[in-house]
Amino acid sequence: MNSFAYHNATKLIFGSDALDRLASEAQALGKKALLVYGGGSIKKNGLYDKVMSILKAASVDVVELAGVEPNPRVDTVRKGVELCKTHDVDFILAVGGGSVIDCTKAIAAGAKTDADAWDIVTKKVPVEAALPFGTVLTLAATGSEMNAGSVITNWETKEKHGWGSPLVAPVFSLLDPANTVSVPEDQTVYGLVDMMSHCLEQYFHHDANSPVQDRFNEGILRTVIETGPELLKDLSNIEHRATILYAGTMSLNGTLSMGIRGDWASHNLEHAASAVYDIPHAGGLAILFPQWMLHVMHENIARFKQLAIRVFDVHPLGKSDEDIALEGIEKLRVFWSSLGAPNRFADYDIDDAHIEDMVNKAMVNGPFGHFKKLQASDCEAIYRAAL
Ligand code: NZQ
Ligand code: ZN
Repeated sequence: MNSFAYHNATKLIFGSDALDRLASEAQALGKKALLVYGGGSIKKNGLYDKVMSILKAASVDVVELAGVEPNPRVDTVRKGVELCKTHDVDFILAVGGGSVIDCTKAIAAGAKTDADAWDIVTKKVPVEAALPFGTVLTLAATGSEMNAGSVITNWETKEKHGWGSPLVAPVFSLLDPANTVSVPEDQTVYGLVDMMSHCLEQYFHHDANSPVQDRFNEGILRTVIETGPELLKDLSNIEHRATILYAGTMSLNGTLSMGIRGDWASHNLEHAASAVYDIPHAGGLAILFPQWMLHVMHENIARFKQLAIRVFDVHPLGKSDEDIALEGIEKLRVFWSSLGAPNRFADYDIDDAHIEDMVNKAMVNGPFGHFKKLQASDCEAIYRAAL
């Protein structure tokens, strides 16, 4: 186990009464807020009205930024920064999924500098200050509600980059499972795939002695495998929504990576793919992760064997380590397919036309991934295997 220091600055407020805390949490941050939300789901399900009336009763003035896109765009971040500066807001409230929260993080940092938002995302300009912000999460998937990372897309240059700073951790996040009940089936599936991918990114490491981390990680994976299909049978089941909401947060709030160094190459490969094709993040992961696994499993077959046996109940008797590992990878692929996730680029009508482009984007900061450092040739092999 590696040395580590853990500090999570986000106050997590979870449960059916979470919204009751909005007034006091908001008032603690100031009197004027920028409310950031997406394409309208919160207006359809009534959450917008609830949030607005709570803020009004708490005497918080509200400026609005609506229309944050899935795979949020730097142009939208710039609009938000402009609104913060023009209206001199005290804090931001993000009401939505990972895209709304990620966009809010970039606005929070952009509002405190004269630098362009894209220079923050590409790390040309360090984050030295940020507006405080809170979130009301509406979709279980990314973990953005309790971490300090963000992913932003630039459509002019077709680039999608992850960045982060301790200064952009949400001050509070309100998680009421009821606010996720209206998430449609396809987005629910994507959420399940994304949170499992976050577990898997952190499962594949070379650090010795990680039994606690392994069991936490396997526990979340097994829970999602058990509960996900039940939730898909009844999207309004509040207990299953709660389980999955909690699983998504715990998958990427730093708990699983204490003392180990996860891989994260599959996420980088996916970000390059969705920068070129604007496919859903987890759709790309469902396609690419199993191919990455097949490509790298010989780096440390013991990790794959352990995953296969402990998470996918592969029976090891009479089988080679390689066969056990392959069976585990296949069970993962079949599980994601059974949920309705894509498993080949062809499912999105993507052919080999832009593979070189994706490879160049994935390699923009050089070789990547901690389990195996991927070179351009590795990326190309994985993209081709996924066609
Ligand atoms: O825009 P609205 O109308 O709100 O609709 C959204 C959107 O169309 C809808 N939705 C959200 N909550 C809903 C709902 N529809 C009905 N009822 C609700 N309660 O769902 C669609 C997708 O929303 P989005 O926020 O894009 O999904 P997600 O939470 O999966 O976020 C994806 C983004 O997060 C990034 C991804 O790259 C992608 O850009 N990631 C961020 C991470 C982080 N900050 O730590 C890590 C992840 O690995 C990921 O890369
Ligand atoms: Zn992800």
